[in-house]
Amino acid sequence: MGKVLVTGGLGYIGSHTVVALQQEGLEVVIIDNLYNSELSVLDGIETITGIRPVHYNIDLRNKIEVTRFFENNEVEGVIHFAASKAVGESVESPLLYYENNINTLVYLLQECSKHEITNFIFSSSCTVYGEPDVLPITEDAPVKSAMSPYGNTKQISEEIIFDTCKSTILQAISLRYFNPIGAHDSQEIGELPKGSPQNLVPFITQTAAGLRKELSIFGDDYGTKDGSCIRDYIHVVDLAEAHVVALQRLMGKKNLMPYEVFNLGTGRGSSVLEVVAAFEKVSGEKLNYKIVGRRSGDVVSVYADTTKANNVLGWQTQKTMEEALESAWKWEQKVRGL
Ligand code: NAD
Ligand code: UFG
Repeated sequence: MGKVLVTGGLGYIGSHTVVALQQEGLEVVIIDNLYNSELSVLDGIETITGIRPVHYNIDLRNKIEVTRFFENNEVEGVIHFAASKAVGESVESPLLYYENNINTLVYLLQECSKHEITNFIFSSSCTVYGEPDVLPITEDAPVKSAMSPYGNTKQISEEIIFDTCKSTILQAISLRYFNPIGAHDSQEIGELPKGSPQNLVPFITQTAAGLRKELSIFGDDYGTKDGSCIRDYIHVVDLAEAHVVALQRLMGKKNLMPYEVFNLGTGRGSSVLEVVAAFEKVSGEKLNYKIVGRRSGDVVSVYADTTKANNVLGWQTQKTMEEALESAWKWEQKVRGL
């Protein structure tokens, strides 16, 4: 069996997926230019699985290097995580986002076509649904006008993959993640945001660890159960498992169509205040927080209908939000030497 190329395999979701793939007996090769990750992640992966995956420090925007990689490596499938993902930054530097998220995808798909690699998994996001009309969100919900260049890159990427599947032998699955949180139980890998975290859970754990003074909760005047926004927080280890299942679906030619889309969430919506309360319970720490104004661009409420992922993909979550928060806290403590 050929190797699986994991782009962005040293990043947050990529590293957990590399572990899951290796534990399933698949051989992994990683491309990651360390733009948002550290080489030490390889140590964590090796400690958990006993296998140090081969890593190429290639910038996927470098078409020549990408071409050379595929000439030298026989690859049976690609899981494409590498991308820039900060929504605010994408508003300030849209071309950076279009180059890093779109050009890289096109180069990879060109190589897949050249080398007849048919199995392709793409990291998409629930951001493609915008503010949904109906909850929970099914895969049939309309893709809404993107609220940021980042969100737009996910929509355009899905269209590029769909078009490629129509006219070539490519078989692909887009996985639309809801809100991934947590860390591996071993505490060998986890989320390592560079600079001030944009996302809720790393901001909570850094505040509890004393790195941040207090958490700002962006709005308590929404029309939700407690006024704060609702999201579907999924344990990153569950999310990683879904990539193995999706890849095996393509490799085993079990897909029903050349291009398929699945929501990856838990199906449960939790408010920001509920997440804070759950964190305080599992950590035993009192969190410093204050309510501030709404964050521009935030949708009010999103959570997944997971029926298709459960019944068609054959995957379901195993872990609770509390377990995810506990693992995130243990990881933060380990990273900070607490
Ligand atoms: P991450 O930043 O931790 O990982 C991405 C990895 O890709 C990093 O290690 C980075 O160094 C690498 N990378 C970026 N550009 C590259 C390039 N040009 N060449 C080579 N390597 C490059 O992000 P993540 O949270 O693991 O997200 C993975 C994917 O999932 C992304 O496509 C992201 O948009 C998507 N996604 C993430 C979330 C989330 O909340 N984390 C939600 C929905 C979708
Ligand atoms: N929040 C706070 N304070 C913070 C950070 C977040 O109150 O310091 C709130 C947000 O307002 C939101 C919730 O916590 O209500 C979750 O926010 P995140 O930034 O963690 O996650 P988002 O749902 O806003 O964004 C995530 C990904 C994006 C993706 C989007 C799709 O980070 O990449 O989901 O909906 F585009």
